[in-house]
Amino acid sequence: MSGRHIVLTGMMGSGKTAVGERLARRLGLPFYDADALLEAEAGKRIADLFAGEGESHFRALERRLIGRLLAERPGVIATGGGAFADAENRARMKIGGVVVCLLADVETLLVRVAPSAHRPLLQGPDPVGRLRALLKVRLPAYAEAHHLLDTSDRTPDEIADLLCRLLQSREPSARRTVRIALGDRSYDVLIGSGLLVEAGERIRALGLTGRVAIVTDDTVGPLYGARLEESLRKAGFEPTCIEVPAGEASKSLGEAGRLYEAFLDAGLDRHGAVLALGGGVVGDLAGFVAATFMRGIAHVQVPTTLLAQVDSSVGGKVGVNLPRGKNLVGAFYQPRLVLADVACLRSLPVRQLRAGLAEVVKYGVIADGALFSWLEEQVEPLLAAEERVLADAVGASCRIKASVVEVDEREAGPRAILNFGHTVGHAIEAASGYGRYLHGEAVALGMLAAADLSVRLGLCAPALRERLARLLERLGLPTRASLQVEDIEKSMYYDKKVKDGMNYFVLTKDIGSVTVTRIFDREALRETLATIVSPPTG
Ligand SMILES: NC(=O)c1ccc[n+]([C@@H]2O[C@H](COP(=O)([O-])OP(=O)(O)OC[C@H]3O[C@@H](n4cnc5c(N)ncnc54)[C@H](O)[C@@H]3O)[C@@H](O)[C@H]2O)c1
Ligand SMILES: [Zn+2]
Repeated sequence: MSGRHIVLTGMMGSGKTAVGERLARRLGLPFYDADALLEAEAGKRIADLFAGEGESHFRALERRLIGRLLAERPGVIATGGGAFADAENRARMKIGGVVVCLLADVETLLVRVAPSAHRPLLQGPDPVGRLRALLKVRLPAYAEAHHLLDTSDRTPDEIADLLCRLLQSREPSARRTVRIALGDRSYDVLIGSGLLVEAGERIRALGLTGRVAIVTDDTVGPLYGARLEESLRKAGFEPTCIEVPAGEASKSLGEAGRLYEAFLDAGLDRHGAVLALGGGVVGDLAGFVAATFMRGIAHVQVPTTLLAQVDSSVGGKVGVNLPRGKNLVGAFYQPRLVLADVACLRSLPVRQLRAGLAEVVKYGVIADGALFSWLEEQVEPLLAAEERVLADAVGASCRIKASVVEVDEREAGPRAILNFGHTVGHAIEAASGYGRYLHGEAVALGMLAAADLSVRLGLCAPALRERLARLLERLGLPTRASLQVEDIEKSMYYDKKVKDGMNYFVLTKDIGSVTVTRIFDREALRETLATIVSPPTG
């Protein structure tokens, strides 16, 4: 490790002190807790400093202390939540150390800080609203940290281990390229760490110039929008950043309409380009708008969720939902480039990461036994969002998706194998009213159902189902749904892919090999569904 400090920043409740102590112990470095030192020196609690002398006096003391700490023997410094939001502190910390910002959603933060009454910025009514407002103000500053890391659903020890590995890794950032060969619609998927800052150059290399629109959501935009914009500006582009609300509801014709207007306002024309910065929601929406604005303009996918990196950004399916169903309006419209920056996955909530891994498991089952075995060995580094392992997982997944898309771009037949686990998965999403289960979680359950059905129909041995269940469990994915068999069944018959009352199923013969059939054995199906719902209690 270099002789620089490790500076931890982030909101109150993000775990800076608990993580900082552990990290320092693991690395054999001194630990400096800025807030505690400040209280000791002032002989007062921070809350009393705020109340007595006011925030600006407190910030002045804090600035002085941080300056002093940065001049000390290199160690781990946990700073107060507002310290990095101060421009002067921020500049010094970024030069004097490697800055890691610990993130968590507002609900998690509140649970963690609730027991302590001495948080001056949380005094008064509506702490949730105030915390949310504070986070919004600070996020652009936090986004300048060298590393962003989500801490919800991770213990301080897990985070400390994860940071140890991250900070000690000397490996040059792993890069992979997967070519999607589709004649004159061919493109590359670039996978690696740090691609966001290279985006401008990479996009210019495609021959694009001038005005570009970045479409993102209001979670991803504040974290990564500025970095992408800066990279584009440096490469001579004129970027405009447009945010939609985070969440599936934004995949709508209404939002599409708003984007067309925003493109016109920004002066985008047929020679411009649309960049989708975000998860599958942003990717599908922005891709759809790119496909239709002025009869189609260039678009580049910059996926920031694992699901988007391994699945939705590749293959050209774009679209929006209608009130009556998902993905009912859309097109096949290939991007010109996909930039999958795996460093973005560290700020992704772990639950989303696990859900994305379900799709990686799917690729293993449908096409690559070696990938499946490799996943079994890499569970811990994958969940710790280690870049090299994630890049390998994304690379392997995209290669399989490429091979399927290349022979069946418009989903006439073979592409159906990508729907392994999705027949029941979609039904679970629908039956639970969308939202209770993430897509990947529902797919995990659906894959178990498909494996069970395969066993029942004599296609494979029961050991396969057990092996799959074990891997999904270790990845922290659900293996039982709290739903009724009848509800899942009912949703299955509403599926748009049902033909003559029969659902089509992708079944497995072995890990790495599948077959597509239509199922009319309702009895077997019912028995299968019973194995993936919670047994009745009482
Ligand atoms: N086109 C296709 O082939 C295809 C394939 C699969 C799924 N999809 C679609 O993808 C959508 C789901 O995509 P998703 O799972 O990526 O959901 P999403 O886009 O809603 O992202 C999940 C959440 O993570 C947040 N987020 C994204 N990146 C982040 C980051 N780096 N750090 C912190 N937070 C981050 C988002 O703001 C959002 O709240 C669905 O609409 C589905 O239909 C499309
Ligand atoms: Zn899926």
